[in-house]
Amino acid sequence: MSESKKIGILTSGGDCAGLNAVIRAVVNGASQKGWTVYGIHNGTDGLTEKPLSYEILTVHNFSDTPWPRLSGSYLGSLNKGVKMESLAEMSKRFGDGVRELGLDAVIVVGGDGSMNITGNYCKGAGIKMIGIPKTIDNDTPITEFSVGFNSACQVCTTAIDSLELTARSHHRALICEVMGRDAGHLAMQSALAGQADVCLVPEIPYKIDHVIDKLKSIKASGRNHAVIVVSEGIKTETGEHLSAAKNLIGEAVYGGVGQYLSSEINKRYSEFQTRVTTLGHIQRSGVPSCFDRLLAALFGARAIELLANGETNKMVVWKGGKVEAVSIDEVVKKGTTLLDTNSDFVKAAQALGMYIGEAK
Ligand code: F6P
Repeated sequence: MSESKKIGILTSGGDCAGLNAVIRAVVNGASQKGWTVYGIHNGTDGLTEKPLSYEILTVHNFSDTPWPRLSGSYLGSLNKGVKMESLAEMSKRFGDGVRELGLDAVIVVGGDGSMNITGNYCKGAGIKMIGIPKTIDNDTPITEFSVGFNSACQVCTTAIDSLELTARSHHRALICEVMGRDAGHLAMQSALAGQADVCLVPEIPYKIDHVIDKLKSIKASGRNHAVIVVSEGIKTETGEHLSAAKNLIGEAVYGGVGQYLSSEINKRYSEFQTRVTTLGHIQRSGVPSCFDRLLAALFGARAIELLANGETNKMVVWKGGKVEAVSIDEVVKKGTTLLDTNSDFVKAAQALGMYIGEAK
């Protein structure tokens, strides 16, 4: 795309640490080629709502400010999805917005949902698009890591460390509820790093009695405290989701499984007092980790290279220690990537004696 001079960038879906490092990488890479970068405000809203909302980004937006070192999104983001019946209309509005600004291509920094939605918009409107994966859930397909996941793991691990110390003082079993929606990556990796005693994830069924057996064995070993990590997306022991709240397009808003687990343990076992900490949105706002900043730099640089080579409908991925580009159709086809119950993370947790549910 050597003729291309104007590209847009937007951040879409739940924010996470590292987004500003991605924007900075794209702006720096584009400026090396003499391209103009339009920063689109508030996800796709900046292009689909009137008046259009955007600003022209230069290297000064980032070199003269601390933004690339901070979490949040300089451009704003939104996590509201889109109703299927509005897809054609939204795609048209998106296309009109892109044409009004005269953009040659759009870089979308988002998770699997955003790749699906904006991939559809861009295809419908004949717009070139490159995706950069980001999400604390790490459930975007094909890429082994998405921007933001590592930083969120760090927030969770630090929290687990803190909980372990107070659990130790008060001889308690402390429960830490972490995000991740239906994927247990964040729970499993932070539980392993934080050396938790129990980790419950949506992908593996569990028995409360076996959680209690684990607590009993800890007690029998002479230790008077424990830490339990639970992913927000687990179901009750009988297989129901607890969440009653819904977002704007009717998807469940998760939260509350920590309290459920606490009361179920209390009903059957009283040797440990339990308390619940729900980490919530602080998981999206940690200090961007070294690894996430590296991903941001590598993904941003590759996205510019792909556009320079005239590529479109590709998402950059981290695979086997390298950056590659895959088709967005393939990403969408694969859908959300859940925790592989045969992964080394799961095997290591089991091998180290963590109770992780009724894994094979
Ligand atoms: O997808 C990222 C995520 O943080 C999930 O882990 C969480 O369930 C959800 O977003 C929360 O969304 P909201 O920002 O709408 O509360």
